[in-house]
Amino acid sequence: MDKRNKALLEFAEELALSSGHWMVEQRNNIIELEYESKSNHIDLVTRVDREVEQMVVARIRKHFPDHLILGEESTSVNDFSIIEHNLEFCWVIDPIDGTMNFVHGIPHFAISIAVVKNGIPLAGVVYNPNSKELFSAARGWGARLNGKKITVSKQDTFKNSLVSTGFAAADWHIESPFRSEVQKVFGHCRSIRISGSSALDLAYIAAGRMDGFWHRKLAPWDIAAGILLVEEAGGKVSSLDGQFFQFTDDYLIVSNGLIHDGIISFLEE
Ligand code: 2AM
Ligand code: CA
Repeated sequence: MDKRNKALLEFAEELALSSGHWMVEQRNNIIELEYESKSNHIDLVTRVDREVEQMVVARIRKHFPDHLILGEESTSVNDFSIIEHNLEFCWVIDPIDGTMNFVHGIPHFAISIAVVKNGIPLAGVVYNPNSKELFSAARGWGARLNGKKITVSKQDTFKNSLVSTGFAAADWHIESPFRSEVQKVFGHCRSIRISGSSALDLAYIAAGRMDGFWHRKLAPWDIAAGILLVEEAGGKVSSLDGQFFQFTDDYLIVSNGLIHDGIISFLEE
């Protein structure tokens, strides 16, 4: 294992733990949280999202002045090819993944931090500060939950699988393929979860709690850390055609590896 990946991970873990704690403190001290809509009525942001990102970015800049940073609240970029073919280290940050849950006081949100080089995540953390669950992975070192190794589930039957999905705000319109996708998968698996946090959905697959996931139009900050968690826990990550996933792809398919083709074949029906 590359010691550098582990050092990047330790820094990311420390960032996630300290800002996660602050985030929950803020939420618990606010009765009615003010929020703004970004692109539309389901695309939300709060002062806490912005302040967490500022804190994290400031600490990365100080410690790694040469590294690039891509953060959900401070980046206006939507051409994600900038991290696909870039030989610099790039920190990819989602200060709160599951902002809608955060706004509604539902304790299912996380901070997600990854370090990506040439389109490949090298270190990643997803931290749910409510449950105090720290999911972490460094390439070649495995995936862990609060320091204990985790692996994907052994479920090999789609009928007995629990899968998750969601809709990105960018995809919120009446003609969205989301409804037909759910219809295609529904009834063929055990059940479908829509948790509102893709980062935690992927962490749950890494931990063997859920078996598969599909989603359209996610951004690198939602998934970069989660992708590494699943790969290091023995799972599979691909685009809709089953090929190598790139951050510019429309669809992300993630699973324990055993039911991967099942998800793809139902979606493609
Ligand atoms: P967020 O909470 O940080 O916005 C829900 O299915 C998932 O979609 C969440 O991970 C959510 O992240 C993400 N999401 C919501 N709006 C999005 C957008 N405009 N672009 C990309 N991802 C988005
Ligand atoms: Ca997000």
